[in-house]
Amino acid sequence: MRYKSHTVESTDKTETLTIVLKDEFYDFEVALNYTTYEGLDLISKNAVITSNCEDKVIVNKMKSGTLYAPWNAPIKLFHLAGFCNSEYQKQFIDLDVTQGKYTIDNTRGVGSAHQHVPFIALCDKCADETHGNVWYGLLHWSGDIKIDIERCFEGQLVASAGVNDFDTFITLNKGESYTTPQFTIGYTDGGFEQMSKTLYDYQYDFLLPQNKIKKPFPIIYNSWYPYLFDVDEEKCLGFIDKAKEIGAELFVIDDGWFGRRKDSKDGLGDWWCDPDKFPRGLKPVADKAHSVGMLFGLWVEPEMVNPASDLYKEHPEWVLTFPNRETSIKRNQYVLNLAREDVLEFCWNVVDKMISDYDLDYVKWDMNSFMAESGAELGDVRIKFIENIYEIWRRMNEKYPDVLFENCASGGGRADYGMAPYSDRINRSDDSDPVDVLKIHEGFSMLFLPRLAGGAGNIANCPHTMNGRVTPLKFRAELGMTGSMSVGINILKSSQEELDELKKYLKYYKSIRHITQNAYLYRLSSLYDSGVAAWEYLARDGSEAVVFVFGHGINYRQPVPMLKLRGLDKDALYTVEGENSYVDKLYPEPRTSHGDTLMNYGIKAYPVGDYRSQIIRVKKV
Ligand code: DGJ
Repeated sequence: MRYKSHTVESTDKTETLTIVLKDEFYDFEVALNYTTYEGLDLISKNAVITSNCEDKVIVNKMKSGTLYAPWNAPIKLFHLAGFCNSEYQKQFIDLDVTQGKYTIDNTRGVGSAHQHVPFIALCDKCADETHGNVWYGLLHWSGDIKIDIERCFEGQLVASAGVNDFDTFITLNKGESYTTPQFTIGYTDGGFEQMSKTLYDYQYDFLLPQNKIKKPFPIIYNSWYPYLFDVDEEKCLGFIDKAKEIGAELFVIDDGWFGRRKDSKDGLGDWWCDPDKFPRGLKPVADKAHSVGMLFGLWVEPEMVNPASDLYKEHPEWVLTFPNRETSIKRNQYVLNLAREDVLEFCWNVVDKMISDYDLDYVKWDMNSFMAESGAELGDVRIKFIENIYEIWRRMNEKYPDVLFENCASGGGRADYGMAPYSDRINRSDDSDPVDVLKIHEGFSMLFLPRLAGGAGNIANCPHTMNGRVTPLKFRAELGMTGSMSVGINILKSSQEELDELKKYLKYYKSIRHITQNAYLYRLSSLYDSGVAAWEYLARDGSEAVVFVFGHGINYRQPVPMLKLRGLDKDALYTVEGENSYVDKLYPEPRTSHGDTLMNYGIKAYPVGDYRSQIIRVKKV
């Protein structure tokens, strides 16, 4: 391809260079876009391919862009991988190889982040939170991804990212184009925490829905963990009373309110309110929430259908399947072929009608399966499917700019930058066991602002269903403060003592969320290295910080190393409060110290024993 032309277009805070290349023989063009953002060391790349050939053109592979690290420099690959309930586990791979390729890919069709978050970083072997060169890239795509990291002849390391070519090809007729998703790349010489800081700024100033980002995100009470599918009017009205009492601000009916949904075997596709559970419809519940000053939200999973549903009987042809084969099934559901226009319009109408009929303030869109039957002959089904998800989410945001949208996919299956522009919250994981969350949140926080860290109940039930672990409410509640808070405890069965304690934590959270939700999160101590996780949440203006310390188990009376704060103004004076919660009179409280001292000598935390948590407040004088 040869250079044909170029343009530069600017908006308020971005600039895009477009270079158009043309095939020398065929009437075929590729426009390469490079967008930069004011104040950020980031470039977003993508490509638009256009055919003006008389014959149709088949495109078998199309990457979004390549990240070039300098000659011989990086020798470690970092990425986040896992599975449902163990998302974003930190993975380091030595790339001390001479020549060869390492591929991170996913072929589940409908979401990749459970297995591989569409992200990689190439870094110095010694890179850590605060040191080292890091070259990183994020693909804005929620379907199949493929990132090839290749050590080339002579030692250069390059990473190219794009939509996976597995079972996929694109057909272009004359005049048609295909636009690849963005690959946003960046560089820092300040370790992973600087990478995160740049990505927080990018989300805060550019990527996330901008009309809602500065508003505090409400505290949720969600019905899922207490009763799973077994919701009804009586329970919901009861939840609202108790949720209001403890200080929750948004009531969400999760799965189970529609069709004949008693368990996972029926209901998906039949998005009418179940008259057995809600004989008067959902209006009394919505009205009650609104009358006590709470917001109201509903769960929905429009991409899926149960074989037992009315929708399936009416439209069996909407399901992705192979002729003459049994359709594979997961969680008793089939995947609708959302690449079809009629299915796209059906799914859009489901949520559009739901939001207006029930006067919703919040929608939790879930997805709990994978795509097995797209078939190589179907071409771009896997691409169109995801593009149509984005189209529905774009319409939801456009038509209902004040409604809050949670992006959920069996927990964090779609925690990616493709969905982020439309998401006010991400279900980080369905694993809310407080010890598991310490690693899950660490990985999540590397790429996402704390305000996005959601889930059906971030203040978890106890003993926890995941590992049977018993932990104090204080530990669970303070962990619940580190993201977007939601309560998953059965408050209809809570004692008055538990309700009063919850009320205290929710009240405290309301007093700090203006700092924490959009904070710069510094990972001071990690559960990967010790029994203590400590996270500093620094307000965006640097004026104050909340430090959360979680001791998973401390033995032999071992003291926790001093926690050296980061990101403070070294010459400013700060008050420090909360160091003494477990050890009497360690320091007078509040004490004052210079930023310099707090960053180089540190603060003292001592969460002795098992499952102890501590909150330390630091404020500029
Ligand atoms: C999976 C989600 O991650 C959960 O939070 C819950 O909404 C269930 N699905 C409901 O089926």
